Amino acid sequence: MSAPKILVIPGSLRTGSHNAKLAAVAAHEFAQAGVDVTRISLADFPLPIYDGDLQAKSGVPKNAVNLKRMIGSHDGVLIVTPEYNASVPPLLKNAIDWVSRVQDPHETRGEVFRGRAFALAAASQNRLGGARVLQALRLILTSCHANVIASQMPLAFADQAYDDMDRLKNESDIGALKELVRQLIDISQRMM
Ligand SMILES: Cc1cc2nc3c(=O)[nH]c(=O)nc-3n(C[C@H](O)[C@H](O)[C@H](O)COP(=O)(O)O)c2cc1C
Repeated sequence: MSAPKILVIPGSLRTGSHNAKLAAVAAHEFAQAGVDVTRISLADFPLPIYDGDLQAKSGVPKNAVNLKRMIGSHDGVLIVTPEYNASVPPLLKNAIDWVSRVQDPHETRGEVFRGRAFALAAASQNRLGGARVLQALRLILTSCHANVIASQMPLAFADQAYDDMDRLKNESDIGALKELVRQLIDISQRMM
């Protein structure tokens, strides 16, 4: 069986982002596991705030199409998201909203969410580790008919979670990430 291609999407553009760090550690784990991994930044897919009038007038922006095709060219997707007011940050929600409007030829709209596995992780400074955004993001993605794996990773106290090389310090965090990576690879492979 060939190795799946995995896409890692951090939901923050902030300099020093805890979530971007977790995405980088996860990408390293995927590479260590021998899979082909791509880590993107949503900064490379700038999008206006979704507006139905804009879509009616100008269509879906090229960056939404590009992001949709980027997702579509991978077998599994890990999204690593901050929690804003108990929910999904606008950067990520807006990207998902636009991607859900893309309809490539010979595909139904939103087809990119079906047929591949998604895994979720979140990093937060508080003790819940973004547990509420994981729930919110799961609801959004499952409403798009995505196959979101049951395991997920909330990283609590994220401001103290990394060493000076931006590696995870705690064995329990390292173990949780390795397990999430293993499960996403396994399920992505079975869905190929
Ligand atoms: C508007 C806003 C709302 C926030 N709400 C929450 C929250 O509900 N729960 C939480 O754990 N952190 C919350 N935070 C703190 C973020 O988790 C923190 O800024 C985190 O570092 C953002 O992720 P990043 O480091 O990847 O950029 C909030 C931050 C902002 C800017």
